[in-house]
Amino acid sequence: MVKRTDLKSDRFYKRAKEWGYRSRSAFKLLQIANKFEVIKEGDVVVDLGAAPGGWSQVAKGLVGESGVVISVDLQHIEKIEGVEIIKSDITKEEETVTAIKDLLKGRDLVDIVISDASPKLSGNRSYDHFRSFELSESALSIASALLIRSGNFVAKIFQGAYYDKFYRAVREKFRYSRAYSPEASRKRSAEVYVIGKWYLYS
Ligand SMILES: C[S@@+](CC[C@H](N)C(=O)[O-])C[C@H]1O[C@@H](n2cnc3c(N)ncnc32)[C@H](O)[C@@H]1O
Repeated sequence: MVKRTDLKSDRFYKRAKEWGYRSRSAFKLLQIANKFEVIKEGDVVVDLGAAPGGWSQVAKGLVGESGVVISVDLQHIEKIEGVEIIKSDITKEEETVTAIKDLLKGRDLVDIVISDASPKLSGNRSYDHFRSFELSESALSIASALLIRSGNFVAKIFQGAYYDKFYRAVREKFRYSRAYSPEASRKRSAEVYVIGKWYLYS
């Protein structure tokens, strides 16, 4: 649980306010994108677990006018200029893929799927880890249905017993894989981001 007093002294929280980002998480994607060069101008990006929209704002900035960003969440996302929004439960993978494909009609498939989806925290670390694992697995399955060959993938997972299983699944599908904790992740957070580059199928 993050206290308000922690937020006041949090430089990424302050910077997000100054830069007009809806979440401090925006800086995590900026750091991942800078380090791994996973998003480029003109890309089609699918952002899973996107509310309130910080990652989608960053992604739209990186893909520019010629790119497309599709943001998916269970929760309502306020309009973001140039971003398509879908309300869907990503664990309902087929429904989510169909909704995204409907939006993409006539366009290419997807260059990158990013997921910052998190379960509501219960305080029970192993239960929260397992639910985070399930969301990450759904993100990987949606990515497998949508990515172009050589496409990229970024997904958050909380560390725990199923982490290795998820990492192995990403490693099998991408030529390059890494796990990364951006500086903007809170020090005591269990979250880690798994990056996959150059999808091997499609
Ligand atoms: C940490 S927030 C994402 C923050 C976002 N990346 C940003 O920068 O604004 C995690 C999000 O995952 C979403 N989420 C959790 N379970 C989900 C599910 N089954 N389907 C879709 N979204 C889900 C939550 O509603 C929440 O908005």
